[in-house]
Amino acid sequence: MMDRSEAARQILRDNDRGGYTVPTDRLYPFQWNWDSAFVAMGFASFDLARAWSEIGCLLRGQWEDGMIPQIVFHAPSDDYFPGPGVWGIRRDPPTSGITQPPVLATAARRVLAADATAEGEARMAAIYPRLRDSHRWWAAARDPGGTGLVATLHPWETGMDNSPAWDRALDRVPTGTRTAIRRRDTSHVDPAFRPRAIDYQRFIHLVEVFRDAGWNPARMLAASPFRVADVGTNAILLRAEKDLLHLASRFGTPEEASEIATRIARMETALEHLWDDARGHYLPRDLISGEAIPFRGSAGFLPLFAGQARHAAALATRLEEWGRRVKALVPSTDPGDPLFEPLRYWRGPVWAVVNWMIAEGLHRCGETAMAARVAGDTRDLIAAEGFSEYFDPITGQGIGGGTFSWTAAIWLLLEEGMAS
Ligand code: GLC
Repeated sequence: MMDRSEAARQILRDNDRGGYTVPTDRLYPFQWNWDSAFVAMGFASFDLARAWSEIGCLLRGQWEDGMIPQIVFHAPSDDYFPGPGVWGIRRDPPTSGITQPPVLATAARRVLAADATAEGEARMAAIYPRLRDSHRWWAAARDPGGTGLVATLHPWETGMDNSPAWDRALDRVPTGTRTAIRRRDTSHVDPAFRPRAIDYQRFIHLVEVFRDAGWNPARMLAASPFRVADVGTNAILLRAEKDLLHLASRFGTPEEASEIATRIARMETALEHLWDDARGHYLPRDLISGEAIPFRGSAGFLPLFAGQARHAAALATRLEEWGRRVKALVPSTDPGDPLFEPLRYWRGPVWAVVNWMIAEGLHRCGETAMAARVAGDTRDLIAAEGFSEYFDPITGQGIGGGTFSWTAAIWLLLEEGMAS
């Protein structure tokens, strides 16, 4: 039998569609933003040219205003809904019109570290301005008031599509759509494990609102009936800003470095405001009502990934407590929450990419024992079940698509150990 690491590399090769990787065959037949960032880091462990091309292909979808879209539709496929026609964005290659958690600068820095050659430097020099522009887009388009927290306008932008965190905020989104909803996901995998029909109606309604706003960032922000500060997105962006700052010192100007440092200072303060003492967790905020969303999820651990160490001990204790209720950390929803559903997508299951960021963060913030536990649980799940899309935290069973690129990439990253 092929060893696990070789199997992981094989999945990345099999899911290669000519310079970019699909998350998995059929279910997700295009290039996805944050999936590709993890995939690039995974490729960096054995194929540097391929790692750089993963990033380059994603950037082919970047908009003039700097936004890096959630999906780049490099080649047509009937296996996914909503395809380019529903988004109605005329670009080459076509893209969706929303974004996803910005892991890319972090990934690019890691690829460069693996490729400390003149060629690697030249590739990074070409990419740096694109990363700089994408971070400027986040600030201008999603935090025009300079609060230090960026807004997310669609649950798909959080990457945690149907998390219970968004239930209440989504109640404001009408379920009516002009578009006929022709889901394809439920013909590839068990519908019981996927988002529900009503979730999809709201997801598509939001797409129509943004299309009507002409994909103009200011109009989208004003028109969206869904507007939240996601802990995950904000923490990942803060981490990415720190990585961009590091890159700016070599590839940018001093002015750019100070612009990034100013944003970092603002974000560090704002992220701490999401900490809720009573609930002992970082909570997302509904930016329409202005209220904290009383939901404890796996995203609440991600400020550690950004190096926010203030509550590291409390978060490690929280993980210990969750760990007594489940076989494998980290469930996407607090297992004591009545909304916890161990099998349904982002409402309970364990996701390897989130685990890796949490483990990295715990390690970075000095909680090394819990970091090792989360990393170990992730490895055990993959070793037992393969490169599943996600895992049942209660039984450890692998669910969803079975040959997932980002799960394979995380296996390879875990093999390399935690950054010191
Ligand atoms: C789903 C996930 C999202 C991921 C995409 C491709 O939509 O919720 O996070 O990027 O699939 O794997």
